[in-house]
Amino acid sequence: MNIIGPDTLVFGVDDVASCNQYLLDYGLVPVRADEAGGRFEALDGTAIEIRRTDDPALPPALATGSMLRKTIYGVADAATLNDIAAELRRDREVRQLPDGSIESVDDMGFALGFQITVRRSLALPAESVNAPGAPAQRGPNVVGVNDNVDLTPRTLSHVVYFVPDADKAEAFYVERLGFRCSDRFTGVGPFLRPAGTLDHHTLFMIQTPPFMKGCEHFTFHMGGPTGVLQAGTRFVEKGYQSFWGPGRHRFGSNWFWYFNSPLGCHVEYDADMDLHDDGWAARTAPMGADASQLFLFQHREKWAPGGPPAAPAEAAAKVNAKFSG
Ligand SMILES: [Fe+2]
Repeated sequence: MNIIGPDTLVFGVDDVASCNQYLLDYGLVPVRADEAGGRFEALDGTAIEIRRTDDPALPPALATGSMLRKTIYGVADAATLNDIAAELRRDREVRQLPDGSIESVDDMGFALGFQITVRRSLALPAESVNAPGAPAQRGPNVVGVNDNVDLTPRTLSHVVYFVPDADKAEAFYVERLGFRCSDRFTGVGPFLRPAGTLDHHTLFMIQTPPFMKGCEHFTFHMGGPTGVLQAGTRFVEKGYQSFWGPGRHRFGSNWFWYFNSPLGCHVEYDADMDLHDDGWAARTAPMGADASQLFLFQHREKWAPGGPPAAPAEAAAKVNAKFSG
């Protein structure tokens, strides 16, 4: 099954305006945005779609109220699409949609779509680093910090589900759709990648009580760690609330920074994820702070030598003043 990764995540929300604004401020490109919803793309065409929660075109919502209504995977070709349809029709309905995609559900009830991928190939430089002992990646007079750098996310990286039965959920993706397990938090869930990508994971699942079933977060890849930190800093300065990070994960090695959002889940920036092929043996570890992160920073109010940072109450008052005016 040559599934490449998630092309589009579709959300059904009550507050369309706030979600549209959030995704715009996050840095995605609005190709459509109005009171009925919007489509917000990364540089390669992968996207988040917002619709009204009562949009009849949406698959049914999970009973938990999770706003994620559909995960649409991009596949390499029509043959893969046919293979997936044939496989899933063995025990569930597979609907053919007018746009040529197919729609079904996984074993936890999450709606899935599959389409020939919309991803455009990118030809962009990675962030460059100068290190003693290695050839310079930035030559003389090329500065590393650029306030005006384009921080449009590059591609939709991964989605994370809360699931009530992680073993059963994993078996569906591995046995029916050909995903591979890269690493695993024991008793919690697997990091999975489909066969068409080397990225450490495009799907991570966390076992939770059934009432929590839904989307925990999604993220887009940035051009490097500075992109994560710079985009996240801009996001904070726009008034959005940091949830976790910035930091660097152990499994996947990706840099991360998570934010609260009006989409009913967290939203992350990430960069510099490990690649794996079928020669990799999955690692296991109990989930906890030490296994989850190599290091963690905390964002704080702007500060420079010459004065202490604002006290928390003072900083909160500044934020309140910003939004009350
Ligand atoms: Fe993540």
